[in-house]
Amino acid sequence: MAGSRLSVALDDGGLELPAVGRLAIFAPDADFDLSALAQDQLEIVQSFHPDHASYNARGYSCVTECGTDYAASLVCLPRSKRQARALIASAEAATPNGILIVDGQKVSGVESVLREMRVRVPIAGTISKSHGKLFWFKVDGCCFSDWAQPGMTVNSDGFLTVPGIFSADAVDPASALLATHLPPKLGRVVADLGAGWGYLATQILTRESVEAVHLIEAEQMALDCSRRNVEDPRAFFHWADGTSWRPSYAVDTVVMNPPFHVGRRGDPALGQSFIATAAAILGNSGHLWMVANRHLPYETALNSLFVKVEEPFGTSKFKVLHAQRPSRLKR
Ligand SMILES: C[S@@+](CC[C@H](N)C(=O)[O-])C[C@H]1O[C@@H](n2cnc3c(N)ncnc32)[C@H](O)[C@@H]1O
Repeated sequence: MAGSRLSVALDDGGLELPAVGRLAIFAPDADFDLSALAQDQLEIVQSFHPDHASYNARGYSCVTECGTDYAASLVCLPRSKRQARALIASAEAATPNGILIVDGQKVSGVESVLREMRVRVPIAGTISKSHGKLFWFKVDGCCFSDWAQPGMTVNSDGFLTVPGIFSADAVDPASALLATHLPPKLGRVVADLGAGWGYLATQILTRESVEAVHLIEAEQMALDCSRRNVEDPRAFFHWADGTSWRPSYAVDTVVMNPPFHVGRRGDPALGQSFIATAAAILGNSGHLWMVANRHLPYETALNSLFVKVEEPFGTSKFKVLHAQRPSRLKR
């Protein structure tokens, strides 16, 4: 869908891309349509592991942080406005005298981004299609340097975060609820699936009996924050996809507040895959502790993959779930 705006712009919308030089694509979803561009000219800038891995597997050149001197850059707008602004500032700085293209859905605020940018730079063209917009301009100096990300800042609970990652401003209330209901003993080896900037890991590490906590997180910016928030020799950091992470050692306890969005779509299948990972990596007497929004349908997956499942605590909004003993035979 979004790619078709790009094709229209290139076919007869007046967008002309340089024939030589590298083209950077900032933060494209795995299914973003790049077929209108020459693959060998492209550099994918993607810090979210599953999307990064998907492009890598298809032979694209991929980085997690942008380079310099691109001939053109295309920014795929994320949902977070602060993150969108930061990407535009980075793309502009990395594309001196080149073409900067911005593409986004209406729900990502592309129209207000266009309005704000229009007062600073002459927009050369716009394409409106499929509930979104694509527009572009010739970079001339740094007109958006004030949008650049300040780096990590301390949030209201005293942790380091960057804009755009989950619960950047403060501890997530569901995670705080889970932390309150974790038992004093969690075993020796614990995995924090979808660890974010590290809040749950800090709570797990208050237990002296814990010898190792593995933080598994797909978003590199969040994982980088967790490295600073969880400065403990028992912490191990993995930039990985929680749906497919399989360590070579057994884990005693999994703790998680699983993600339930894929891009902009709510998708309980993601949380269900995390439950399957927990069941696969836990030892025979392992425990899973998780929290979820009350409406999310996780019980069927839990009951099919664990011998015992209970809800030790809940509110009208959230449920804390405890599952014990993966039922290997049922898988
Ligand atoms: C609901 S948040 C919880 C974050 C953190 N545990 C906390 O309590 O603040 C879910 C986290 O999972 C991460 N995530 C999303 N998809 C993932 C995947 N496929 N593999 C690993 N982590 C993922 C998100 O980036 C986000 O940090």
